[in-house]
Amino acid sequence: MSESLPLLNSLKKQSKKQSLSNSLVKKLLVFFTLAAIFITIILQFLIIEPKQLEVERKKNFIFFVTDGTGPNYVTLTRNYKQFINNNDYAELLQLDQHLSGTSRTRSNSSWVTDSAAGATAFSCLLKTYNGAIGVDHHQNPCGTVLEAAKMANYLTGLVVTTRITDATPASFSAHVDYRSQEDQIAEQQISSGMVDLMIGGGLQHFVSGGRKDGRDIIKELGSNWTTANDPASFFNVYNQKNITESEVTLPFISLFEMGDVPFQIDVENMAYSGPSLKEESELALRLLHSSPDNEKGFFLLIEGSRIDHCGHNNDAACIPRELMAFDEAFNYVKTFADEHPDEDFILFSTSDHETGGMTISRQITSDYPDYIWYPEVLAKVKHSGHYMAQQLLTKNNVDEKFLKKTLFADWLGIEDYTKEDIKQILSLIESRNSGFLQDYINNMVGIRARIGFSTHGHSAIDVNTYLHANSESLLNYAFQRVRGNRENTEFGSLVVEFLGLNMTAANEYASGINHGPLFAATENIDEYHNNI
Ligand SMILES: *[C@@H]1O[C@H](CO)[C@@H](O)[C@H](O)[C@H]1NC(C)=O
Ligand SMILES: *[C@@H]1O[C@H](CO)[C@@H](O)[C@H](O)[C@H]1NC(C)=O
Ligand SMILES: *[C@@H]1O[C@H](CO)[C@@H](O)[C@H](O)[C@H]1NC(C)=O
Ligand SMILES: *[C@@H]1O[C@H](CO)[C@@H](O)[C@H](O)[C@H]1NC(C)=O
Ligand SMILES: [Zn+2]
Repeated sequence: MSESLPLLNSLKKQSKKQSLSNSLVKKLLVFFTLAAIFITIILQFLIIEPKQLEVERKKNFIFFVTDGTGPNYVTLTRNYKQFINNNDYAELLQLDQHLSGTSRTRSNSSWVTDSAAGATAFSCLLKTYNGAIGVDHHQNPCGTVLEAAKMANYLTGLVVTTRITDATPASFSAHVDYRSQEDQIAEQQISSGMVDLMIGGGLQHFVSGGRKDGRDIIKELGSNWTTANDPASFFNVYNQKNITESEVTLPFISLFEMGDVPFQIDVENMAYSGPSLKEESELALRLLHSSPDNEKGFFLLIEGSRIDHCGHNNDAACIPRELMAFDEAFNYVKTFADEHPDEDFILFSTSDHETGGMTISRQITSDYPDYIWYPEVLAKVKHSGHYMAQQLLTKNNVDEKFLKKTLFADWLGIEDYTKEDIKQILSLIESRNSGFLQDYINNMVGIRARIGFSTHGHSAIDVNTYLHANSESLLNYAFQRVRGNRENTEFGSLVVEFLGLNMTAANEYASGINHGPLFAATENIDEYHNNI
């Protein structure tokens, strides 16, 4: 029978085996239970002490802004990079590898934002009117994430390539009704105690020569701040091998230009002694990170400020150089974060808006247009239109020969210029119209490269967002909070949540700040090249 029912037989055998193993399991259970109790008792002795000594991981948030950069700028720059490196479509920008979504950019007062309302959306988490710096729709000052970070004992910094008093950095660190109140912005940035580090341009709003009230804020600082307000002083600090050992303490200010830092395209073709955005960012990271006051980590704003200015000037050759310099800075910070796995780093990058309504491929005749654009035309250009126009207006030997040899051949790399080009340019020099002169030169490049612009101002198109964190779990945490298409007021919440900030407290602080204009605000509205 047992042979006729092999299945039953084998089941019996198994159940015998099982009952044998059941008694073994019981014995093991008793053993493990006793062992577990014993281990728990020992661990309790061991763990209590280390728990009290445990230090929280430092948290660092780097908020990047590519001012004026639409997705079209990213494509233009990626194409340009592939062209100059003679690479195929596999070559990407650093940023491309971190795309997380898009941002809607409109402000409270318009479908088309300016940089002030755009940056206040980031810093105060609210929509306000164009021109507002750290104030809401009713001109009430609003606490910023930078201020809240400082109040929570984080270190704070601003790194830019424009004036440190310009809209983006100002919206994180000051509160005024109109962006043109730059002297007041400078004063607030210095005296609030909220900013530990400032690197960029805009010294003019801190010294007697440039300020309306004639004060020299830098002199007044005495030894309260470490100052390095020219390129040589910047590099004196930068070249210190060990920042901790050096005398360089926070707060630190290095405004190495009176106004804006020169365009990257100009820097590459002249003897320039100031730092790149990457070098600025590097110094900022080293100073904040190694400061003895760094207890919890830091909040740092890094802005590729002048990408926007290329767009305002409709200067196609300017854009890829400026964005590539930003890409290099982003990559440096990413590497720094990855090399510090003992701390948490989140890098977030976005734009306030697109500038210029720039189009890659432009119809230039009434024929059906070719599907093409020519990066090689941009690659030949050695200066910004702004620089070339200034040169033409300040040199007194400008004639037809100068245009042919210097402007067309050396600076623009254009051989197929026309008699009409020469006539028009000489006439614009004659009438001293620097804006139209610049436009004419930039358009000579744009037409040949097939790059078009539809405005000297901003456009309403959504812009990209990018994200990096130095661990998989942190990246996932941050990605859940910014992925997809978002309102520009949402990104500040990631900073608030990650760093554990109290915006109510920051709002209370900000409400006491004097934000009205000291002088009647006089916006220069008839010159569209003033880069807003
Ligand atoms: C602008 O702000 C006001 C006051 O908060 C609000 O009532 C209005 O809906 C806002 N408009 C837009 C377009 O954001
Ligand atoms: C410099 O710091 C001292 C001590 O904190 C302070 O009393 C003084 O007002 C500061 N000076 C300036 C110009 O900020
Ligand atoms: C820098 O100097 C500090 C203080 O003397 C020292 O603790 C640290 O190890 C030095 N770092 C390097 C990279 O030499
Ligand atoms: C945030 O700050 C406000 C105002 O100072 C305070 O009343 C509140 O208790 C704070 N919240 C937290 C969670 O600390
Ligand atoms: Zn702008």
